[in-house]
Amino acid sequence: MPIEIIHAPGALRQKADALRKQGKTIGIVPTMGALHEGHGSLFDHARKGCDTLIVSIFVNPIQFNQASDLANYPRTWDADLDLCGRAGVDIVYAPSVENMYPEGFQSKLCLGPITQPMEGAGRPGHFDGVATVVSKLFNASMAHFAWFGEKDFQQLKMITQMVKDMDMGVEIIPVPTVREADGLALSSRNRRLSQGERQNALGLSRCLRAMVAAAQKGEQQSASLLALGRQELANYPGVTLEYLEIVDAATLQTIDRLNNKARILIAAAVGPVRLIDNIDISL
Ligand code: PAJ
Repeated sequence: MPIEIIHAPGALRQKADALRKQGKTIGIVPTMGALHEGHGSLFDHARKGCDTLIVSIFVNPIQFNQASDLANYPRTWDADLDLCGRAGVDIVYAPSVENMYPEGFQSKLCLGPITQPMEGAGRPGHFDGVATVVSKLFNASMAHFAWFGEKDFQQLKMITQMVKDMDMGVEIIPVPTVREADGLALSSRNRRLSQGERQNALGLSRCLRAMVAAAQKGEQQSASLLALGRQELANYPGVTLEYLEIVDAATLQTIDRLNNKARILIAAAVGPVRLIDNIDISL
């Protein structure tokens, strides 16, 4: 079956309504395109978990807090459609900005403390933009299930919280981070790295792994682990650390000592490209 491409929220809603009446389960994987094997892994999980699989491709302007990041965001429509085809996606939902935010649009979802630290602190307005667009995608697609990557850990937690708080009735399913062989987490932004920057970008995952190795040897104090992580990162010139935190995965609040939900989150700029990563470091 060829992929059906839908551009307007009303048309998607109509389609979803008909599918539901036929008793079909609907799954959605929201993306901003520039698809890679990390997205592909979400599609593979999703393909097995629903009757009709919708992938949305929409570079959401209201979640970018820097005009240059939005302008430089890679757009690879033809390759994206190929990947969706190979993954067995049924519907690609690719609305225009005007369709999503027509003149007069004025509503916004705004979440609580879970959105404030880390990504929320460094990118004001970012999570409100994500919450707003994802709730619109859920409404138009009438999805039963949605798959999100652990790569964007705070985003995953925020969406789970939003669905619970707002009684959205969509089941959120997390998917583990897909990495290159050397450990770098796949990201659409990786294609903007020069060769040298690509080498230095390894600093993020190496830092996380060094901390996990120390924890496995018995270190449980966050302060010692964080110092060790920073030391590891210092081996990678041109990496400017924005934050490195050990948090409780349920609340995203920092913890002084590892517990059974401990997670490390990192954000750093590598040249002009901002990258994030995270890893489980629970006891
Ligand atoms: P985007 O960055 O395109 O990511 C879409 C989905 O792919 C997210 O759930 C993200 O966590 C997941 N993903 C990205 N890289 C991954 C990797 N290496 N391994 C596993 N999953 C990975 O996240 C967004 O778009 C947007 O904020 C969006 C939710 C679509 C709202 O606009």
